Amino acid sequence: MNFSEAKNEIQRLLSRVQRQDLPRLIDWMKNTDELDDALTDNQKVILQSISEDLRTCLPMEATLSSESLAVEKTQHCAHPTVHVDAFLYDEETVDTLCEEGKMSRNYCLSCGSHGTAPLDFISHSFSILELQFLFQHALPDLAGRLVVDVGSRLGAVLYGGYLYSSAAQLVGVEISAEFVRLQNMAVEKYGFSDRIQVIHADICSQDSLIQNADVLIMNNVFEYFLEPSNQLKAWNFIVHNFRKKGALLVTVPSILESLSSLQGSVDHSQWVEEVPLDYSVYLGKDSDQDAYRDIHLYRVLGS
Ligand SMILES: C[S@@+](CC[C@H](N)C(=O)[O-])C[C@H]1O[C@@H](n2cnc3c(N)ncnc32)[C@H](O)[C@@H]1O
Repeated sequence: MNFSEAKNEIQRLLSRVQRQDLPRLIDWMKNTDELDDALTDNQKVILQSISEDLRTCLPMEATLSSESLAVEKTQHCAHPTVHVDAFLYDEETVDTLCEEGKMSRNYCLSCGSHGTAPLDFISHSFSILELQFLFQHALPDLAGRLVVDVGSRLGAVLYGGYLYSSAAQLVGVEISAEFVRLQNMAVEKYGFSDRIQVIHADICSQDSLIQNADVLIMNNVFEYFLEPSNQLKAWNFIVHNFRKKGALLVTVPSILESLSSLQGSVDHSQWVEEVPLDYSVYLGKDSDQDAYRDIHLYRVLGS
């Protein structure tokens, strides 16, 4: 049944409900989260299972001791910030951990007082809902396409693309050997190796892969992990090599914001045009449309 057929069915059903019960029923439909069960699909269950597996392999902050730059950057944010990986910890898991006293959403304003303020959370991965938004609502049909995730970390984009799209190949490039090992473990365990490949490399060595990609995903890839001069180099490499006309680029945050703090030039004029996205889609009670708004889609103009 498609959307308009379902709408007609619901209208027919509502016309049969006792008049005095209608306001209560409509209020329930608007506000309940009991209907959210209908939004849970097999794909989401598999992603949750991968997330649970990976959680057991990593410390709660899900960063490696080798990632000193990322840790330092988080510590120097204007507002107290902690890293909570959104693929590993969804809202419900964070709530449970807070109730158990293992995690906190707040920090103490003056030690010993009851005054607290909310911590800022940053994530180095997409959440399952963001993956669903990306592959089911933002991107077109990817049948036959090559998707490359620049800095694939835990592999969230690769698993999301495998389960929520028909992409022919999903390739992750990750500079950290430890994260490559974790991704390969998940790819093997869940039987994804027919369409997913993980390459342990600096993206700047992958010119022919980038030239052949139909979709390139860049989720906050360089800012926390590379010094500004290397970020500049990596962006120039991407702009130089990702040139296939009509290919799609996904960035978080926007290209302008990603480049705004870098001193030096990246010539991206005439490179891409932004494709407007509809962020209003409802994906469940934890659906955070503000998070989707950080996701930007661009189309390569071709040189
Ligand atoms: C914010 S995470 C992105 C995670 C993943 N793409 C997602 O959306 O869930 C960025 C990752 O990029 C990796 N990275 C940073 N610079 C890189 C480079 N030059 N080449 C390959 N990977 C890089 C980091 O090690 C980190 O794991």
